[in-house]
Amino acid sequence: MLEKKEQLYEGKAKKVFATNDPEIVIVSYKDDATAFNGVKKGTIVGKGVVNNRMSNYLMEKLEKEGIPTHYVKELNERETAVKKVSIVPLEVIVRNIAAGSLSKRLGLPEGTPMKRTVLEYCYKCDALDDPMVNEYHILAMEYCTEQELKTIADMALKINAYLVKYFASINVELVDFKLEFGKTTDGKIVLADEISPDTCRFWDATTHEKLDKDRFRRDMGGVEDAYKEMMKRVLG
Ligand code: TMP
Ligand code: ASP
Repeated sequence: MLEKKEQLYEGKAKKVFATNDPEIVIVSYKDDATAFNGVKKGTIVGKGVVNNRMSNYLMEKLEKEGIPTHYVKELNERETAVKKVSIVPLEVIVRNIAAGSLSKRLGLPEGTPMKRTVLEYCYKCDALDDPMVNEYHILAMEYCTEQELKTIADMALKINAYLVKYFASINVELVDFKLEFGKTTDGKIVLADEISPDTCRFWDATTHEKLDKDRFRRDMGGVEDAYKEMMKRVLG
């Protein structure tokens, strides 16, 4: 029987607790929302439930596709048991359609389809505002090894191929998303963190209505309804 022990960490959207099993931790999803590295703060009522359940559902599907993940077991609507990993300090961003910071940086109108999938890396460091880095920086700084980086890039592209098709089946365009990877105690790279409206851009495929955290970032209103709509489409 898994027992929840002391809190190990509190992030912007989740808390992590130790358990009686040294290989397992419990993640607890909050309704707290931040944007722009914590500068904008708010609450999205029910977000923790949506993100927990949606992320678990997608990780189970990805496991069946042969993608190793940290997912172990959903405990309740906000809490999940996951493998304890050391997080590779990279945000891995996958882009299918231009939006957000890519649109700004390259002067591409939001909605422009990318001719090839774009992978970007940011160094996870709040004090530096998660700066973008390339493969050379990552290897020179030893954020991970060359082999690990290859595994991460291959997994990110495989995850994208699966998710694009899956979301299309529920009439959602997967514009872009952010992944994080962890290393288990035996050195295996697994998908970690979450896949949710906090970490993905989802557009309704017919109306192009935004169904994700951009509604919060951009003060568009209808934030809770967008999360609820995504939960309904994914979990029925
Ligand atoms: P960006 O266009 O702001 O760089 O965001 C790209 C994708 O990454 C988008 O789906 C939102 C997600 N993202 C996060 O999950 N966390 C972050 O801190 C940022 C900046 C983006
Ligand atoms: N998670 C980020 C924050 O720090 C930002 C975002 O999702 O836009 O506040």
